[in-house]
Amino acid sequence: AAPKQRPPVIWLHFGECTGCSEGFLRSMYPWIDELLIDILDVEYHETIMAAAGHQAEENRERAVEKYAGKFICVVEGAIATKYNGAYGKIGGKTFLEIAKSVCPKAAAVISIGTCAAFGGVQAAAPNPGGYKGVSDALGIKAINIPGCPPNPVNLVGTIVNYLLLGKLPAMDNLNRPMFAYGKTIHDQCPRRSHFENDEFVEEFGSEEAKLGYCLYKLGCRGPETYNNCPIVKFHGGTSWPIQAGHPCIGCSEPDFWDKMTPFYEE
Ligand code: SF4
Ligand code: SF4
Ligand code: F3S
Repeated sequence: AAPKQRPPVIWLHFGECTGCSEGFLRSMYPWIDELLIDILDVEYHETIMAAAGHQAEENRERAVEKYAGKFICVVEGAIATKYNGAYGKIGGKTFLEIAKSVCPKAAAVISIGTCAAFGGVQAAAPNPGGYKGVSDALGIKAINIPGCPPNPVNLVGTIVNYLLLGKLPAMDNLNRPMFAYGKTIHDQCPRRSHFENDEFVEEFGSEEAKLGYCLYKLGCRGPETYNNCPIVKFHGGTSWPIQAGHPCIGCSEPDFWDKMTPFYEE
């Protein structure tokens, strides 16, 4: 059952592509309309709110004051830190200024996606804007729900844990909830028996690819990547990269644009 008092959520967008919001809007367990209407009280979210321009800015400031100490701040996107944050602004204020004025007043800060958690593509070398994840940029300990995009189930599970039990779920050393990021892709992969039997795909479109063999030799990063994609899958359990025949590119790991590339090995 939904809690009586819906928790206020202020969702900030910084350096990002909105893919995390798009993923969240496709939540099916529960459906997004139930989440938005019955479970959460989303006070500010640039993609789905009616207000625009100065009115939107005022709404955010009013919500932060009204719900100080009570709201959940979800951050999507990385924060530019060089040149006083000049690489990213909204309404004349830098991402850094907005984050500093909102995040410390939240009851909990959740970094949704690899951009907010670890910097993501904005922080890829040579990173001219000095982009960082939220925890690094502000010197705080946000809860990280990485993935590019992450599965909405992982965000919803974290929030529901907080609502029902009054506490955050157990985390690992990168502040990721263990229920979602406790095991590697490789350890949960349905192609694992092919890996153990030395049955590999060496070329896309090959006979081995049709047989669903292991993608390790195409550059699969499943052994180094902690996420629950093989179990929860995307779009309500329809599919996930490896089921679709594509190697895992390690999209939920820190610095994956620098450390997991080249994504394809031949
Ligand atoms: Fe987009 Fe990926 Fe960043 Fe999410 S983590 S905002 S999907 S680039
Ligand atoms: Fe591991 Fe990737 Fe092979 Fe799956 S496809 S068994 S994750 S190397
Ligand atoms: Fe990302 Fe790998 Fe899952 S690329 S979506 S962590 S299978």
